[in-house]
Amino acid sequence: MNEKQLVGEKAVEYIKDGMVVGLGTGSTAYYMIKKLGKLVQEGLNIKGIPTSKQTAALASEHGITLVDFKNVKQIDIAIDGADEFDADLNLIKGGGGALLREKIIANAASAFIVIADSSKAVKKLGGFPLPVEIVKFGADMTLQKIAGLGCEPRIRVDGNQAYITDNGNYIIDCDFQEIQSPEELESQLNMIPGVVENGLFVNMAESLITIKNGVLVEETR
Ligand code: 5RP
Repeated sequence: MNEKQLVGEKAVEYIKDGMVVGLGTGSTAYYMIKKLGKLVQEGLNIKGIPTSKQTAALASEHGITLVDFKNVKQIDIAIDGADEFDADLNLIKGGGGALLREKIIANAASAFIVIADSSKAVKKLGGFPLPVEIVKFGADMTLQKIAGLGCEPRIRVDGNQAYITDNGNYIIDCDFQEIQSPEELESQLNMIPGVVENGLFVNMAESLITIKNGVLVEETR
């Protein structure tokens, strides 16, 4: 079993009957959703709230009933992957372009559990270019403002066109190399008009399931 499968399948142990579950996006979340689908077929009664159209399709394919914010009073748990995590369980997310819905759902959930293979562990966040979702209007100006925070921003492309999120926006990948203060940068970015949200998830993860020295470990903040 590969690391993504190990951590993804482990995470479903947190899910109990009757829960509303935030379903993450990406290749690690894929294994969690697939396993959850199996448990649902065996009788587990849960509802899922997806972080992307891609995850909605995957979850439906695996027999998971989906709900949206109109139909739920609370989200009990959200489980999602990460592109990087540090020792404080701060994260960079959005490699899959779903950071806005991921952050809304992680923030709304009573517990947010991260599943990440060992390659995602870093001393300092920023080696992975930080994804920032921006509206199309005034994008050139927004890019300049983002660059002013000390990075090299570039509009994400899909083939020869700009990548468009589920929310109809652009993703800007920002190469900061090393982020000294994730908390400060998270709010500085969100202060720029045109920025919708960024992929820094600071003080949000309650637990992390990962692999250390070949062993599955669970860390709590
Ligand atoms: C999607 C994300 C993913 O969680 C992140 O990119 C990790 O992906 P993977 O599990 O495929 O490595 O933030 O927007």
